[in-house]
Amino acid sequence: MTRIPLISGNWKMNLNHFEAIQLVQKLSYELRNHDYDAVEVSVHPPFTDLRSVQTVIDADRMLFHLGAQNCHAEDSGAFTGEVSPAMLGKMDVTFVIVGHSERRALFGETNEVVAAKAAAVATHGMTPIVCVGETLEERESGDAQVIVEAQVRGSLSSLSGDQLAEVIVAYEPVWAIGTGVTASADDAQLMCAHIRSVIASVRKSAADKVRIQYGGSVNAANAAELMSMSDIDGALVGGASLEAASFARIVNFKDA
Ligand code: PGA
Repeated sequence: MTRIPLISGNWKMNLNHFEAIQLVQKLSYELRNHDYDAVEVSVHPPFTDLRSVQTVIDADRMLFHLGAQNCHAEDSGAFTGEVSPAMLGKMDVTFVIVGHSERRALFGETNEVVAAKAAAVATHGMTPIVCVGETLEERESGDAQVIVEAQVRGSLSSLSGDQLAEVIVAYEPVWAIGTGVTASADDAQLMCAHIRSVIASVRKSAADKVRIQYGGSVNAANAAELMSMSDIDGALVGGASLEAASFARIVNFKDA
């Protein structure tokens, strides 16, 4: 089974819509010779930038996928301040990150909430990028695999079998996010292989198809080694995605 790697840029709460347009234009230039069939690319701007970025992607026929960072599970209703998957679908959003560790830690998202969001995203024809990962404390106590397994089972529990095969899981150890400390390629591979085995136990036929990204301080220097691991099918990139040249070098990890 060949899984096409997906490199995703999670911009978090950075860049207004003018800056967002500049970044995608620079990125498109940096990646002018890139083979997007060999390595797919998605950018995940804040909600307020999505329409502007979508318009530029369309007008200039750029080959990035548009992504969002979060959404609500319901289609519409009295949820002040929220954005629905139906709204994102209308904007040609392809991928929606759900259950990022910052949302779990800072906004109280449980596996149940994440599961509902993932199912809603899939039901609207988009692909959820479901984030899981242990804290430093959990790793040091030897519980990392148990914690991540529970997150994977809980967060994917509302997907149908077909939806499960299409999902993307991002393994992001919390201690590696934004710290400059990356998991070793071997440790990342071990956990990603474990995640795939957990998915296989739910639905064997889905496990080979599911793409598993690694995230946490990915940069141009460490991307190639991480991507060479058999169960790592891409990267979810935070800080290094905010600068076109550094993100492009990660996307071009095969040339490293
Ligand atoms: P980082 O963030 O690359 O800045 O560590 C990754 C993420 O939070 O998705």
